[in-house]
Amino acid sequence: MKIAVCPGSFDPVTYGHLDIIARSTDLFDRVYVAVLTNPSKQPLFTADERVDMLKRATAEFDTVHCETFSGLVIDYAKMRGAVAMVKGLRAVTDFEYELKMASMNHHLDKDIETVFMMTNNKYSFLSSSAVKEVASLGGDVSAWVPSFVAEALAGKYTMLAESGIDIG
Ligand code: PNS
Repeated sequence: MKIAVCPGSFDPVTYGHLDIIARSTDLFDRVYVAVLTNPSKQPLFTADERVDMLKRATAEFDTVHCETFSGLVIDYAKMRGAVAMVKGLRAVTDFEYELKMASMNHHLDKDIETVFMMTNNKYSFLSSSAVKEVASLGGDVSAWVPSFVAEALAGKYTMLAESGIDIG
């Protein structure tokens, strides 16, 4: 059985992520979607909230499992018996960052490949950060995330505004 891991922050999951996950299910028998910590990002949603949204968004795929893991992605991939980690590449700007991570992970374990998939053109400019920025200013994000994610974003920003927290 060929197992893959789709790691990320997923803060929150977008249709760009879901496109990569769906295409991964065509290539691998089982796909573990893992919410991991990106030390350079301050998340809006808790890890459990992000996993819940991922579970809902991928419910149609029997071979997809979503969970959170705190630690190195390579340790997670090993724990799950994965042969590959699948990442989406949008533009040249993603390349340097992804190459650095893929090289580091290869150094840590040479048996686990990083596989890059080109993001579908229609999502080439889409990112969780852009979705959060638009949602935080009251814009419509329904073209980029499932409706329950758009609702969760609106709820989160309303809650933060009511509690007087600066959402920067
Ligand atoms: O969606 P993101 O923020 O680009 O995902 C990055 C993520 C979470 C996959 C990356 O930061 C990661 O792998 N974090 C776990 C810690 C780790 O293994 N770091 C070493 C990679 S060089």
